[in-house]
Amino acid sequence: MEGLRVELGERSYDIRIGQNTLDALGGAVKELKASPTLALVSNPTIYALYGERVHASLTAAGFDVVEIIVPDGEEHKELLWVERILTSMLERRLDRKSLLVALGGGVIGDVAGFAASLYMRGIRFVQVPTTLLAQVDSSVGGKTGVNHPLGKNMIGTFWQPSLVWIDVDTLKTLPQREFLCGMAEVIKYGVIWDRELFDYLGREKNKILSLDPETISHIIRRSCEIKAEVVSRDEREGGLRAILNYGHTIGHAIETVTGYIRYLHGEGVSMGMYLEAALSERLGIMKSGGADEVKRLIDDYGLPSGLFDGADATAMVDAMGLDKKTVAGTIRCVLPESVGKVLVNEPVTREALMELLASL
Ligand SMILES: NC(=O)c1ccc[n+]([C@@H]2O[C@H](COP(=O)([O-])OP(=O)(O)OC[C@H]3O[C@@H](n4cnc5c(N)ncnc54)[C@H](O)[C@@H]3O)[C@@H](O)[C@H]2O)c1
Repeated sequence: MEGLRVELGERSYDIRIGQNTLDALGGAVKELKASPTLALVSNPTIYALYGERVHASLTAAGFDVVEIIVPDGEEHKELLWVERILTSMLERRLDRKSLLVALGGGVIGDVAGFAASLYMRGIRFVQVPTTLLAQVDSSVGGKTGVNHPLGKNMIGTFWQPSLVWIDVDTLKTLPQREFLCGMAEVIKYGVIWDRELFDYLGREKNKILSLDPETISHIIRRSCEIKAEVVSRDEREGGLRAILNYGHTIGHAIETVTGYIRYLHGEGVSMGMYLEAALSERLGIMKSGGADEVKRLIDDYGLPSGLFDGADATAMVDAMGLDKKTVAGTIRCVLPESVGKVLVNEPVTREALMELLASL
C-alpha cells in the first residue's frame, strides 16, 4: 500500500492508496485510538456493494458500528441529512472520542464530514472515497458542506479528515460517466501543476480507461500529492488554493444555466477548462496552440470541450457574477500560461468573456 501525508501541523493526516484494501480498514481505524462506538455513513448504492465488507472489517477490529444511510443523490446533500446523521449519533451515544467513517463519493464525504465537524464541536472522521472524483479531489483538503436552495456548497466548514483510505478496486463498479468526471479533475492537475502528468495521461489513456491498477494508482497518487501540496500551503483558500478552481468559473456557469441536469460537475469543468484556456490565449497569456492542446486531451477522454448549442452568453456571464469566487463584482479565473503553469485569481472583464463566448 502506498502512503503520503498531508502536512498541516497538528491536523496532518495520511492518505493510503492500495488495491483490495477495504478488509484492512478496521485495523487502520483502530490505530486512531477512538471510542468503541463508531458511525459509518454511506448511501444504499455504495453500501450494497461495499458496506458489508467495511462493516465486517470494523467489527473485527472491535468497533460497535452505527450505520447511517443517506439516500443516493446530490439533492440529499442538504442540512436535513446532516441533522439526521447527528441525531443517530446522539441516540447511539457516540462521544467526543468517537469516529465517523464516510464510505462513498463526494456527496457522502461532504455531508458526513460536515456532520463530523459539528458533532460535539467536532469529532475525527475517516474518508473512504469510492469515486475517482472523491479519490483525487474531494476526500483530501478538508472542505465539507451541503447545498442550500439558494446555492451549491454554500453551507460548510473546513474540517480535515484523520485518514483517507483509497481502495482503487472500488472503481471497477463505478459507472463510466462518473469515472470520466474524475478524469476531468486529474486533467486539471496536469494543466495547473504538472506537465509530466498531463503527458502521461495522453500516453497511457488505454491503460487508464481499462483501470490498469498500477497506472490508476499512479494518477491517483500524483493527484493527491498535488492537492496535498496546495492545501498544505493554503488550507483555507487565502490565495494559492484557488488554483484548484481552474475550469470551475466557466464550468459552474454552464452547470447553472443548464439547471444542473444536463451535465455532471466534471463535464462542466472539462468544458470550463478548454474555455478558460481559450480565454487565456485571447488575452495573450497562453501562447497560441495551448488551448488546442488542452482540448485534445479532454476530447481523447470523451469529455465535452466545446460550448453546447444554444448557450446564452449573457446568462452565463451573469451566473459567473453570482459565483462564490466572484468578490465585489469582479469575476476571477485561473488562466493557464502553458500546460503546467497558471495564473491564479486573474480578474476577467464581462466584455472579454462575452467576446470569448461569441467567438465560439
Ligand atoms: N469537498 C471538496 O473539496 C469537493 C471537491 C469536489 C467536489 N465535491 C463535491 O463532490 C460531490 C460530487 O462527488 P461525486 O462525483 O463523487 O458524486 P457522488 O458522490 O454523487 O457519486 C456519484 C454516483 O456514483 C455512485 N457511486 C459512488 N461510488 C461508487 C462505486 N464505487 N461503484 C458504483 N457506484 C458508485 C454514487 O452512489 C452516486 O450515484 C459534489 O457534491 C461536489 O460538490 C467536493
